[in-house]
Amino acid sequence: MIRVRSLVKTIDTGTHRVEILRDISFDVPASQVLAVMGPSGSGKSTLLGMLAGLDWPTSGSVAIDGVEITSLDEDALAEVRGRKIGFVFQAYQLIPTLTALENVLLPAEMLGAGNGVRPGPSRARALLESVGLSDRRDHYPAQLSGGEQQRVAVARAFMMQPSVLLADEPTGNLDSENGNHVLELLLKLNRDEGATLVLVTHDRELASHADRTITLKDGRIVGDA
Ligand SMILES: Nc1ncnc2c1ncn2[C@@H]1O[C@H](COP(=O)(O)OP(=O)(O)OP(=O)(O)O)[C@@H](O)[C@H]1O
Ligand SMILES: [Mg+2]
Repeated sequence: MIRVRSLVKTIDTGTHRVEILRDISFDVPASQVLAVMGPSGSGKSTLLGMLAGLDWPTSGSVAIDGVEITSLDEDALAEVRGRKIGFVFQAYQLIPTLTALENVLLPAEMLGAGNGVRPGPSRARALLESVGLSDRRDHYPAQLSGGEQQRVAVARAFMMQPSVLLADEPTGNLDSENGNHVLELLLKLNRDEGATLVLVTHDRELASHADRTITLKDGRIVGDA
């Protein structure tokens, strides 16, 4: 589960201070789906970056499965990020020199040998199958359509069986048919694997699949339904 408390992000540009997030608090119980909506510039991506431990808050805290990631050092944070958190971005961000299968495997390979068990190629193949791309395993991103690339990105995000999956406008670059397909896969994998899903979207229809929707405006929660 995710617990966010009094999250504040202020950026000092030299000439003035920009308050990007102002006192954000919420919980997302395990396996639930939270949609985050709000106009451009309202702080959605900034919030997601904090949930991912990619950015530090000015004050406040984020806990993932009871671990306060906002007070971890870089190494501990990298470990939590690698093992517990999956991401899907608007621009698929696949590695162009790796095949679909290699892209899905990447999160497991990036994690140091460490002590824990690392999922391997059989899981990567199973995930590619579940997103309908078994026959595209050995294709490079440039040989895949946008929808197919995003499906590879979804498979990759689930590779480590993350307890939290963060998706920032995952269907933003796709037409509605491909977008719906990617969304269905996200929700299906979310159900099957029991991940907690946070989904940033501009799409009300998409948000209607969530257990809860918060709306941000100027860095504040202005709606919670
Ligand atoms: N490093 C930075 N320095 C200054 N301002 C920043 C920085 N990063 C983000 N901002 C500002 O913070 C605000 C929130 O940005 P953010 O990317 O979180 O918005 P968003 O809700 O995701 O918007 P969109 O829907 O367009 O993706 C914006 O006004 C942005 O200009
Ligand atoms: Mg954004």
